[in-house]
Amino acid sequence: GSTLHAAASDQGRYFGTALAQGKLNDSQYTTIADREFGMITAENEMKMDATEPQRGVFNYSAGDRILDWAVGHGKQVRGHALAWHSQQPGWMQQMEGQQLRQAMLNHVTQVATHYRGKIYAWDVVNEAFEDGSSGARRNSNLQRTGNDWIEAAFRAARAADPNAKLCYNDYNIDNWSHAKTRAVHAMVADFKSRGVPIDCVGLQAHFNSGNPVPNNYHETLQHFADLGVDVQITELDIEGSGSSQAQQYSGVTQACLAVARCTGITVWGVRDTDSWRASGTPLLFDGNGQKKAAYTSVLNVL
Ligand code: XIL
Repeated sequence: GSTLHAAASDQGRYFGTALAQGKLNDSQYTTIADREFGMITAENEMKMDATEPQRGVFNYSAGDRILDWAVGHGKQVRGHALAWHSQQPGWMQQMEGQQLRQAMLNHVTQVATHYRGKIYAWDVVNEAFEDGSSGARRNSNLQRTGNDWIEAAFRAARAADPNAKLCYNDYNIDNWSHAKTRAVHAMVADFKSRGVPIDCVGLQAHFNSGNPVPNNYHETLQHFADLGVDVQITELDIEGSGSSQAQQYSGVTQACLAVARCTGITVWGVRDTDSWRASGTPLLFDGNGQKKAAYTSVLNVL
């Protein structure tokens, strides 16, 4: 293939990007997105604060715009994210306990129902584990509703959209020797053993000099896949430039290709200037929409 998604498709995988609704009228942005990518994630528009700004009042207009653009251009869509400690609407940030549990489950049900049949995979729960060596769950208002909040969210999502793959998504779960990675792996193993509906693990894959692509990345992906779930690289970006960045990008791509159940890679934005990272150049296209060395290195290994 001569584009990222065409080349990935030849390998039975997808190559995707995050899109922001506010840039859909930028023709350089949409031209690249249409040409290179086959899987679209809404960068912010399907999150809890966007979709339920007031309790029980749902707003799908921005999310629908992303979805309609994607479907209209023949793309698939990853849903992101149904339940998360961050980017909660203000009313939810104030909630705790049983009231919050019910509100969270209602949110999962309503949003997954709205998009039923249109989503390839949902990030049902995002970032629920602590960083560092504890391997513990992150302390959040959702976690304080009870340790079973994650499985409750997955069951609600399955009931609402039985055909979407249901993913647990997190960052810093790339290095197999880290406690956070092992803790997420143990949760997924537990879910599989008890029949909690989970189909995939999303590795966000935000890399930088302090958090480089680990040498054991392929091993990590394989260990998750060995649990009987798909793995997806869901938010890839790598700080840096030139050949060092290019090598890391091709390494991530090769690690995914080496794992049969690694179904695809999504980069977290189109051009460097679209990145959520305030500074730096972590993506595959420069601010003028030109292909970087990192782009070529990915395409060459696909
Ligand atoms: C980021 C978006 O890119 C920003 O526009 C927003 O201000 C904050 O969230 N992990 C995730 C993504 O799961 O949703 C985050 O996206 C980046 C980190």
